[in-house]
Amino acid sequence: MHKDPNTTNQLPELRKRISIWRTERQRIALVPTMGALHEGHLSLVDLARKQGERVIVSLFVNPKQFGANEDLDLYPRDIAGDLAQLAGRGVDLTYIPQTEQIYPPGFATTISVSGVSQGLCADTRPHFFDGVATVVTKLFLHCQPDLAVFGEKDYQQLLVVRRLVRDLDLPIEIFGGPIVRAEDGLALSSRNAYLSKQERAYAPLLHKMLVQTAQKLREGLVMPKACSPGVQTLAKAGFELDYFELRDALALTPLHKLDERPARLLIAARLGATRLIDNIAVMR
Ligand code: PAJ
Repeated sequence: MHKDPNTTNQLPELRKRISIWRTERQRIALVPTMGALHEGHLSLVDLARKQGERVIVSLFVNPKQFGANEDLDLYPRDIAGDLAQLAGRGVDLTYIPQTEQIYPPGFATTISVSGVSQGLCADTRPHFFDGVATVVTKLFLHCQPDLAVFGEKDYQQLLVVRRLVRDLDLPIEIFGGPIVRAEDGLALSSRNAYLSKQERAYAPLLHKMLVQTAQKLREGLVMPKACSPGVQTLAKAGFELDYFELRDALALTPLHKLDERPARLLIAARLGATRLIDNIAVMR
């Protein structure tokens, strides 16, 4: 299918390449993605390049992490564009598995991480983290990386993956990459392509309200009072809020106010048909 020697959709071919790198004792880094790449993804590739000697990027739109009424069919797919963006970024292999490669007929296994995968995004997307944990486990087993890089953009997902790796003793070091934003503060996301011109103009409010609320928390206000002006501003601009919460940055347990623990302020909202998520670290 893809003639480029640096891409494969075949597991045996992937394994062959990896086994050579393994005998050469090269440190293999994996960046799992669903494609429709942007600078956020590419920043993770750069981080992978720094931490590893060989970099694998996977492109796979994982059906198991989409609910029945979600955007699986609409999700942007542009493999040629993705490969063009990856060219010159120091990627050794792009793995583009077919669905049957990941989920062969009769596939009946689910990896489910409890605790950190409850609440927040799971409240509106109950199957999401099982889908993520299952596909990430398969990608880890296919690519056998020494390290893998995930973005803080999907902060809860990053913690789910960290928990998964710890619980299953997977010998894979997990790195979190900082959120890459547009100049106006909007976190880059493949789903931003869904936004109309007018929605795109309103979308940076999400980040603005995170910053504003963080400031109020630092001034000593408590949740939910600290976020209520932000909630009102967002509602006026047409956002429908899923959550706006202060959480312990490591355990992801709810916090009422800032204390000595590292904290994270997380938000998810729908703007028209597009669901946007964002988060920031908050220090006292
Ligand atoms: P996807 O949404 O394509 O994102 C792939 C990786 O890029 C994730 O680790 C995500 O957190 C990171 N990322 C996205 N936008 C970013 C930004 N603006 N700045 C920094 N990193 C960003 O997340 C997934 O795919 C899937 O759930 C996946 C892990 C591949 C499993 O299917």
